[in-house]
Amino acid sequence: MTLAQTLARTTAEAGRQLLRLSGVPHALSSDNEGGLIPICPLGPEHVPAMKVHMLALAPHDRYLRFGYAATDEQINRYIDGLKFGTDEIYGIFNRNLDIVAMAHLAIMKEPGRPSIAEFGVSVKSSARGRGYGARLFERAVMHARNAKVSQIYIHALSENAPMIRIARKSGATLERDGSETEAYLSLPKRNLDSRVTELVADQFAKTNYSIKEDAKKFWDFLAQVQEIRKGVREGRHQSAE
Ligand SMILES: CC(C)(COP(=O)(O)OP(=O)(O)OC[C@H]1O[C@@H](n2cnc3c(N)ncnc32)[C@H](O)[C@@H]1OP(=O)(O)O)[C@@H](O)C(=O)NCCC(=O)NCCS
Repeated sequence: MTLAQTLARTTAEAGRQLLRLSGVPHALSSDNEGGLIPICPLGPEHVPAMKVHMLALAPHDRYLRFGYAATDEQINRYIDGLKFGTDEIYGIFNRNLDIVAMAHLAIMKEPGRPSIAEFGVSVKSSARGRGYGARLFERAVMHARNAKVSQIYIHALSENAPMIRIARKSGATLERDGSETEAYLSLPKRNLDSRVTELVADQFAKTNYSIKEDAKKFWDFLAQVQEIRKGVREGRHQSAE
């Protein structure tokens, strides 16, 4: 996507999100309808939400994600061990600010060698098939390229059709070894467009997140006010009886 296309799509998407959050019905029929999906880089402050997302994965999804049926303890340890300074973690949030999809780009740098990165992803079962997995991969590729990573690889189980589809569509080379498949994608060098596109994508996601945060605060406040009014009304009824 060129910079001009990114800017145009971002502006249109931001407008549609604003309309939807301000209550205009059908302003945006789906999150991936021709626009950008807001993908936020995650930090240590998102650890509790990450744990909620990953611990909700069913045993088979944990097996697909990690290559083994990770226990709750292993998932907690994995998240506590994330290297926020070096790696990139991305999340897609719903209106309640729950993480519905999350990706981890683990970057390996060794002096004198080209950097490589491993990509892993999980999407909440009810949010699958909307393109979130594919968009998270594109976002990770964009960052890896800008971080001068030469190659991304994905370790997937051969039965994992959507993950293999995402890798194949990106142009990755796939090597199947029985029940396991490795996908390798060589990245082009970064350029001005890739760097500005990443800045724009981040800014869009940050703006979208703070709009959702404000909207959530407003609706939580309204719910509290309604709760108080209900309590007062019930109190009046009781004293009238
Ligand atoms: C793999 C996973 C991340 C995919 O997420 P998703 O958001 O549903 O994927 P997308 O909607 O982006 O779909 C990706 C592609 O797979 C295709 N696809 C989806 N489900 C499929 C299925 N069951 N069989 C074949 N293809 C499928 C989609 O049509 C899409 O292809 P298209 O772009 O040509 O239409 C998700 O299934 C998941 O979280 N699985 C459990 C954890 C896991 O497997 N992680 C990957 C290991 S690192």
